[in-house]
Amino acid sequence: MIYFDAAATSFLKPPAVKEAVLQAFDTLGSPGRGGHPLSLAAGRAVFRCRAQLAALFGLADPARVCFAYNATDALSTAIFGLFSPADHVITTALEHNSVLRPLYALEDQGMGLTVLPADRKGRISYEDLPAALRRNTRAVVCTHASNVTGNGLDLARIGAFCRENGLLFVVDASQSAGVLDIDMQAQNIAALCFTGHKGLFGPQGTGGLCVAPGVDIRPRRVGGSGVHSFDRHHPGDYPERLEAGTLNATGIAGLSAGLDFIEQTGLAAIRAREDALARRFYLGIRSLPGVVIYGDMDAPLRTAVVAMNLAGEDAGAVADALAEDYGICTRAGAHCAPRMHEALGTVGQGIVRFSFSYFNTEDEVDTAVQALRALAGT
Ligand code: ALA
Repeated sequence: MIYFDAAATSFLKPPAVKEAVLQAFDTLGSPGRGGHPLSLAAGRAVFRCRAQLAALFGLADPARVCFAYNATDALSTAIFGLFSPADHVITTALEHNSVLRPLYALEDQGMGLTVLPADRKGRISYEDLPAALRRNTRAVVCTHASNVTGNGLDLARIGAFCRENGLLFVVDASQSAGVLDIDMQAQNIAALCFTGHKGLFGPQGTGGLCVAPGVDIRPRRVGGSGVHSFDRHHPGDYPERLEAGTLNATGIAGLSAGLDFIEQTGLAAIRAREDALARRFYLGIRSLPGVVIYGDMDAPLRTAVVAMNLAGEDAGAVADALAEDYGICTRAGAHCAPRMHEALGTVGQGIVRFSFSYFNTEDEVDTAVQALRALAGT
């Protein structure tokens, strides 16, 4: 199998991730739930991962890294925990349903919502931001990079707009964590929501949100916290504030190993390798007859995604042919990003998305180019 679906999950991982999970089964008890050595070991493993994430994302206090199941879970916690029906929020057409659906749910209760439109290349215009402001605007909520086209948004620019206008800035880093530079302080991010199983190379079921100092998110879940057991109320301090129940310590140990790999390799080296693979693929297919490429391939900020179609062919049929006849895994369809597909004009056809990993090879890319050449009939 050739795996080009890294934007869905990093199936190809540093071997140390699997080893760390296996070792955790033999060495970790319940984190924060006792004073015996196995519980303390689990607590240390979890704290180590919080510290790694805080360092990666430019957050001073590791206690403000709260674990969740994935980015959708973290985004629901942030969005439902920060906004109310009296507010107005600005978002973009690039968003995944993990951002859109919680915002729509609040819109159904009366919250104001402005969605900045995207052009046919999937780009927003930053000049649209000031006109979207209302008297009750609380926040901008947006992705760092589209999961469909790979095009990035300028967090520093949007963060500066939020600072100038007293808004909270909530960022979905699902596609960018571990690849693009994130600095919560410099980019003025109030809540950064991430998943562990994509660019951070952790297991599925890991993720979380980093909360800037002074930002209070209402908990969505309460219950077991391991501390203050006689209180009627869930603790208000981070990280327990947003974490109820036993954490996924085995998964978090794996995530830590993924973060070790990122620290050792460096974001710039990871990005350079992935970009080179995506570029090689793009240059290999862009002139094939019938190939249509989506997004802005010349944008300065991109993840390693190439979104394409073959003439009028259904994207699902092309992805099936790639998988069945050539053993190449891609993701076709709407990618849970309905407004992006509306902007790109691909609601009916869908898109075949190739997304590349640090662990892919040039030979795999060349095999995929040959496969598309054959499917294009040349
Ligand atoms: N949101 C993930 C993707 O883009 C699952 O494939």
